[in-house]
Parts: sequence; C-alpha cells; structure tokens
Amino acid sequence: MLAPLPSVRAMVPFVSVENMMRLVHHLGVETVLAEMTDAVEADYRRWESFDKIPRVASHSRDGVIELMPTSDGAVYSFKYVNGHPRNTAGGLQTVTAFGLLAEVATGYPVLLAEMTILTALRTAATSAMAARHLAPKGARTMAMIGNGAQAEFQALAMKAVCGIDTVRLWDIDRQATQKAARNLAGSGLDIIACASAQEAIEGAGIITTCTADKQFATILSDNMVGAGVHINAIGGDCPGKTELHRDILLRSQVFVEYPPQTRIEGEIQQMPPDFPVTELWKVVTGAETGRRDAGQITLFDSVGFAIEDFSALRYVRERLAGTGFCENLDMIADPDDPRDLFGMLQRAKAEKVA
Ligand SMILES: NC(=O)c1ccc[n+]([C@@H]2O[C@H](COP(=O)([O-])OP(=O)(O)OC[C@H]3O[C@@H](n4cnc5c(N)ncnc54)[C@H](O)[C@@H]3O)[C@@H](O)[C@H]2O)c1
Repeated sequence: MLAPLPSVRAMVPFVSVENMMRLVHHLGVETVLAEMTDAVEADYRRWESFDKIPRVASHSRDGVIELMPTSDGAVYSFKYVNGHPRNTAGGLQTVTAFGLLAEVATGYPVLLAEMTILTALRTAATSAMAARHLAPKGARTMAMIGNGAQAEFQALAMKAVCGIDTVRLWDIDRQATQKAARNLAGSGLDIIACASAQEAIEGAGIITTCTADKQFATILSDNMVGAGVHINAIGGDCPGKTELHRDILLRSQVFVEYPPQTRIEGEIQQMPPDFPVTELWKVVTGAETGRRDAGQITLFDSVGFAIEDFSALRYVRERLAGTGFCENLDMIADPDDPRDLFGMLQRAKAEKVA
C-alpha cells in the first residue's frame, strides 16, 4: 500500500529569507513598517489578553540564545533569537532569528518564518510606536548611534511613522556609517555622518542608541543629553549589557515593555528593583500619561518582547495571503489514523523497497 500523501494540515507555510524580502518589496518597506507599527500597537491595546513571561535566555561567554513565547488564547507564537556582538568580526550577523505561529485549539503550526529581517522590522516598528506616543511634538531630526544591521530600519520607521526628515549617524566604525548612509541615500531622508555621539545628538528630538557590545557601555553620558528629547534605547537588552549612564535614567521618565523582563535585561538593570517605570501598553490605552511636557526626557528602554514578534508574524501571515511568497513544508507527521504513526512509518519503508 502506498504511503498516503501528507494532509493539508501537515503542510506548514514557510517564509524563507528570500520570500520575506520579496514580500517586503511587494508591499514597500515603509508601508510594511507603518502597517507593522499599527499591528504592534493593536496588540499593545489588548496587552492583558496575552500570556507573558520574561524570555528564556541561555547565556554563554560570547552571546545569548533566547526563546520568546506568548499566546492570546487563540494563537501561540515563539521566536528563537540570538545576540552575539562579536559575530560581525567573523562575517556573521549579531542577531539572527526564526519563529512560528500555531493554532492554540489543536497545537498545529500555521506559519514558520525567517525572523532576522522580521525582527529588524518589528523592532523598528515598536520604536516608532513608542516615539509616536512619547517623542516631542514636531521632532524632525533623529540621531542614530550604532549604524549596524538594525539602523536603516530604525531610521525608515521613524520617517514613515513620525515624520522624521533628518538622520544624524554615528558609529565607532566609519564603514558602518558609510554603509548606512549609502543604504539610506534616495530614501528622502537628509543623512548627516557625524564625528562623535555628541555631534550626532545635536538638535535631535529623537536619539536612538542601537549599539552591540556584551558589556556595560556608556554610549550617552548625562551631560550630553539636553531637556525635552526622546531616547529610544535599543542596544541594552541583556544582563550586563547597557548603553546609558545611570544618571540619565534618574532624569528621565522611563517606559518599558514588560517590567519583569526589562528589569533583568534593560537599562534599568542598573537601578534598584523598585525604580519607577511606566508600562508602554498603558500609555497606548490611555491609562497612563506619556510625555507630560516639552522639557521632559522620555526614555523607551527597549529590550524586545514576545508580543511584538507575535504581532509581526500575524501581520506577515495576513499579508502573505494570495501572494505565493511561501513554500509548504512537510513538517507535521499526520497519519490518516492519528494513532497509526508507526504504521505510516512502516508503509513509507514498504513504498521505498517497492
Ligand atoms: N531592543 C530590541 O528589541 C532589539 C532588537 C534587535 C536588536 N537589538 C540589539 O540592538 C543592538 C544592535 O543590533 P544590530 O543587529 O544592529 O548589531 P550590529 O552588530 O549589526 O551593529 C552594532 C553597531 O554598533 C556599533 N557600536 C559598537 N559600540 C559602539 C559605540 N560605543 N558607539 C557607537 N557605535 C558602536 C558597531 O560598530 C556596529 O556597527 C544589539 O545590541 C542587539 O542585541 C535590540
């Protein structure tokens, strides 16, 4: 007897890196960033309906590997992601990721996707969502400190969502700045390469720090930061890895994703456990105030949370429909008689011999 063909439910749509790039170009990068910002914001509005735990991290000398799960009761997602700041010296990415969506009712996966590009998009979308609520009104200039893999996504999201028209770049590696300037040429943004972090933040209403170093670093010191700015701190996202001098935190209103995770991983790991923070989802729902006045320093202490990956994967699944930018993987063993898993294996051998 021939082994049965896999059932439809056994086949899981897989979005490869190549297909993710096709999908993004099909829709347009800035459209994706703007729509993903809205998708993340919609899920922040229903924050309380999600399962939440700090991500599960496996630390090693050179980096970290993390699993990030969540569920809204109907759909479950997880992301596998690493962070290895020394990778770039060997020609590898600092951050790579993939992730999965599953149906809670059956536990069957419904989407598997590359998430290295998707993480850059969702991190930029989340930053833009935070800035939309917190940045000073009329901010048109952004400083981008750290010009690595995430940088262009961050700049384009701030343009698409917040109306930024000028980006001031700084990186300790000039080649990284040249790369970002080249990639952003023709985007409609004015690009200014700067000679220091201090120079980059001059006149910037939004300051994004997005550097990678597996240690406590001081990318910004207190005396550099003037009143009224919004700081979007992306790179401090691991125990022992921060970017801001703690005195900046003392002068700022600090907004976070999920406090139990951010207190372990974010800039606020430098502060006592009761250091006051505002949960960003409460600003989105209107339960808490965002920016109070023009002189206040707002600080989004971003570490990346599972719900943002859930939103990004769901967005990709929706936008994928009808495009063909995926392939079906025979990923779930699904015998016709659910209890006859071994029989299915046996029939496959018989088929091979015949
Ligand atoms: N918060 C989040 O949700 C989130 C998501 C993705 C990545 N990240 C973090 O963002 C950081 C950047 O990620 P990436 O993929 O762009 O990394 P990357 O390695 O591609 O780029 C990092 C850049 O920072 C530069 N840099 C290092 N030290 C610096 C300093 N002192 N001053 C200025 N520039 C400096 C490096 O030269 C490099 O160009 C990483 O730490 C990563 O873990 C956070």
